[in-house]
Amino acid sequence: MSYLDGIVFLDGRYVAARRAKVSVFDRGLLYGDGLFETMRAYGGRIFGLDEHLQRLRRSSDALGIPLPERDWRKTLEELLRRNRLGKGDAWVRLNLTRGAAAPDILPPRRARATVFALVKPVPSGFSPIQRRGAQITLLTYSRHSFMPEHKSLNYLPTILGKSAAAQRGAYEGLFVRDGRYLMEGTTSSIFLVRGDKLQTPPVEGILPGVTRRIISQLAAEEGIGLVERDTSVAMLKKADEAFLTSSVAEIVPVVRLDAHRIATGKPGPVTKLLQRRYRTFARRAAAAD
Ligand SMILES: Cc1ncc(COP(=O)(O)O)c(C=O)c1O
Repeated sequence: MSYLDGIVFLDGRYVAARRAKVSVFDRGLLYGDGLFETMRAYGGRIFGLDEHLQRLRRSSDALGIPLPERDWRKTLEELLRRNRLGKGDAWVRLNLTRGAAAPDILPPRRARATVFALVKPVPSGFSPIQRRGAQITLLTYSRHSFMPEHKSLNYLPTILGKSAAAQRGAYEGLFVRDGRYLMEGTTSSIFLVRGDKLQTPPVEGILPGVTRRIISQLAAEEGIGLVERDTSVAMLKKADEAFLTSSVAEIVPVVRLDAHRIATGKPGPVTKLLQRRYRTFARRAAAAD
């Protein structure tokens, strides 16, 4: 089945994907003037929706693009059902743009936001990359020097970063600051295991990942301390374990940095423990919301 055979939500209505259209004057298309959230549904229920909406609202307040008020849980879970994903696991993307307006950089005083949501299935078992671990590479720039805390539609640094990583045979590229400090992956947060503690770069300068926040909670429940500090490439090379986190891919062990093997070159025990804990927590919490 093609992605065009499904149903999307667009400006208050469920529409056949083939017929869903936005204006060529939409500022999201012309300037990347908009925001989005990517979430994961387990068994048809969206995990962490309130936290994702909070991050979206914070950004939409900062940019002055109001998110239309509606029952987003009901709307998105209905979208899952209409796409026959009411019982499975799914990728859910909610998008908000400043809307269509005369093509000037300066935003109009009033525009009607465009809001649309897309869903697609994801396999419900652990994926091969979650089981075997991934090779990553370094990117010599940051995602956004300006407002990295917003998940804006300006994703060129991410697209170029993912492409560079793929060309090097890597699953993910890490943005690096000052030629030395790890920031985040193109679509993920990074954690190291050093001794009996987790370590992750400070949230300043990166996207405040929802999964990153949940991992810190689960680690605390397991009695694993978490240190937020500048994290260098050298620390990654010598780490006992490393992993990436994001809402859809959950926890992906990092086993290689280019040709350099991280520790044993296999997913480590802390990573595997957190993978299991996270999956159980996410499924339960999604069902209970
Ligand atoms: C730049 C960046 N950092 C981190 C993440 C992980 O965020 P979350 O855990 O909220 O999915 C993403 C997700 O796409 C991202 O794009």
